[in-house]
Amino acid sequence: MQPDADEIHIRRAQKHDLDAIERLEMAAFSHDQLPRDSLRYYIGAPSVSMLVAQGQDGLCAYALVAFHRRSIVARLYSIAVAAECAGRGTGRKLMSACEASARLRGAHWMRLEVRPDNAGANALYHKLGYRRFAEVEDFYEDGSNALRLEKPLTAEALTRPRPRPSRM
Ligand SMILES: CC(C)(COP(=O)(O)OP(=O)(O)OC[C@H]1O[C@@H](n2cnc3c(N)ncnc32)[C@H](O)[C@@H]1OP(=O)(O)O)[C@@H](O)C(=O)NCCC(=O)NCCS
Repeated sequence: MQPDADEIHIRRAQKHDLDAIERLEMAAFSHDQLPRDSLRYYIGAPSVSMLVAQGQDGLCAYALVAFHRRSIVARLYSIAVAAECAGRGTGRKLMSACEASARLRGAHWMRLEVRPDNAGANALYHKLGYRRFAEVEDFYEDGSNALRLEKPLTAEALTRPRPRPSRM
């Protein structure tokens, strides 16, 4: 039986997680998969936070958040929960850890892209308070558009001018 979210532990990805992270990536996405070399690079890279959800029998999920120097905007680059772990709160818990990590790095906003037809991810993000601010045409490898969503992570975010949308 797969663990509930309160039985999983969120931690930073380590080099020995590479095979499991690659399996999660390949299983979760049929397009735009991050190649193994990129995943290897991101584990421990200073410009990102790569987090994994550890269950008793292995990894249930991973997520990748990217940071830019002098930017108050963090970007959720990827999140993938194993199908057998889905619907148990893992995605919510991992997103919360990503947001906490972004705050620790000085970010006031989180932004991300999602396919309009990805009902599960859209439901998760909206429940967590993400709101659409743009749509990018022809964003994904198969020509699909992306919705760009954002969420203020701090009270201070709301007292400042909203950061300009970056070009993709
Ligand atoms: C989208 C994804 C991350 C959700 O992870 P998860 O662990 O199943 O989500 P959770 O169990 O934490 O659900 C959190 C909330 O989102 C909602 N949700 C999640 N998946 C849903 C779905 N398929 N349909 C409707 N609502 C959904 C849940 O209802 C839940 O709300 P609740 O806590 O109020 O009950 C996961 O399905 C996944 O990895 N999908 C494939 C990869 C992907 O699409 N990544 C996102 C790319 S932008």
